[in-house]
Amino acid sequence: MSDPLLMTDAAPATPAPEKTAKAHLPDAARVTAVTHWTDRLFSFRVERPRSLRFRSGEFVMIGLLDDRGKPLLRAYSIASPSWDEELEFYSIKVPDGPLTSRLQHIKVGDDIILRPKPVGTLVHDALLPGKRLWLLATGTGIAPFASLMRDPETYEKFDQVIMMHTCREVAELEYGRQLVEGLQDDPLIGEMVAGKLLYYPTTTREPFERMGRVTDNLASGKVFADLGLPPMDKATDRAMVCGSLAFNVDVKAILEGFGLTEGANSDPREYVVEKAFVGDGI
Ligand code: FAD
Ligand code: A2P
Repeated sequence: MSDPLLMTDAAPATPAPEKTAKAHLPDAARVTAVTHWTDRLFSFRVERPRSLRFRSGEFVMIGLLDDRGKPLLRAYSIASPSWDEELEFYSIKVPDGPLTSRLQHIKVGDDIILRPKPVGTLVHDALLPGKRLWLLATGTGIAPFASLMRDPETYEKFDQVIMMHTCREVAELEYGRQLVEGLQDDPLIGEMVAGKLLYYPTTTREPFERMGRVTDNLASGKVFADLGLPPMDKATDRAMVCGSLAFNVDVKAILEGFGLTEGANSDPREYVVEKAFVGDGI
């Protein structure tokens, strides 16, 4: 693949030199860093368009030009917090995926397309005030919570924040682990996070210090026992959920069992849900 030059819907047939192209393309965002975590996962950072405002937890459409010069866009959670000068994304690599088979090859200095219209339900505005915030994710579903865990508002609003992240294998947890560890020493937010953020990573298919699905660890009460917390209660506990459709459906049933009800931007309640991707998974 040649450099993923950025263009708008009205892109010329022949890509213009990079500088000229960027000058004419308001939706270009330049890549500033790329990290490959496993052969299926990578993260990258791009310059933040000056005009882009978003709420931590929201997603945007990003992409590249396809072979015919048309924008190929997909929904991506912004993994960086709303105060950050750059934008971070955490991505799957789908072997034959139209976008990620190419996006996984981006390099520092390349441009991607970024449509500056953030939306989403995994935002503080969609939850009622509470004491404890549960962030429940599988796989790349941790991305919106990577944003929320780095936002001071999260710790202003809640006494405790519990990040449950489950993947098949240990290596798939590494992005989240490094992020959480880095937060403790962060000059901006470290003090707010200390003692408030409880991290509960598990695997399901490779031996690890803690194992089991999020659903099983909630339903059995294991996570409450391990962390010394009471079972979820509608009066105190709030949750945000982001995983595959099957995961979301199963977690919702458990949260409803604890008496929590689903909220939305227009109707804040005790929990909110968003799909980490559309499809059956790979
Ligand atoms: P697609 O044709 O889009 O997908 C092919 C198949 O790959 C899908 O049918 C599904 O089975 C599988 N798949 C797609 N995405 C994932 C995934 N993330 N994890 C596991 N299996 C997957 N993806 C991210 O990597 N990071 C994000 O932050 C992210 N945020 C999203 C937010 C929303 C609201 C939605 C709806 C999707 C999000 N996605 C995210 C998925 C993303 O939009 C694309 O599907 C993904 O980048 C793959 O694109 P593709 O064109 O290569 O393959
Ligand atoms: P498991 O290994 O038991 O299937 P995937 O890679 O398939 O998207 O799954 C990511 C993680 O989410 C895996 O640890 C998987 O566990 C778990 N998972 C998949 N489906 C569900 C579900 N319906 N409820 C809870 N956890 C799930």
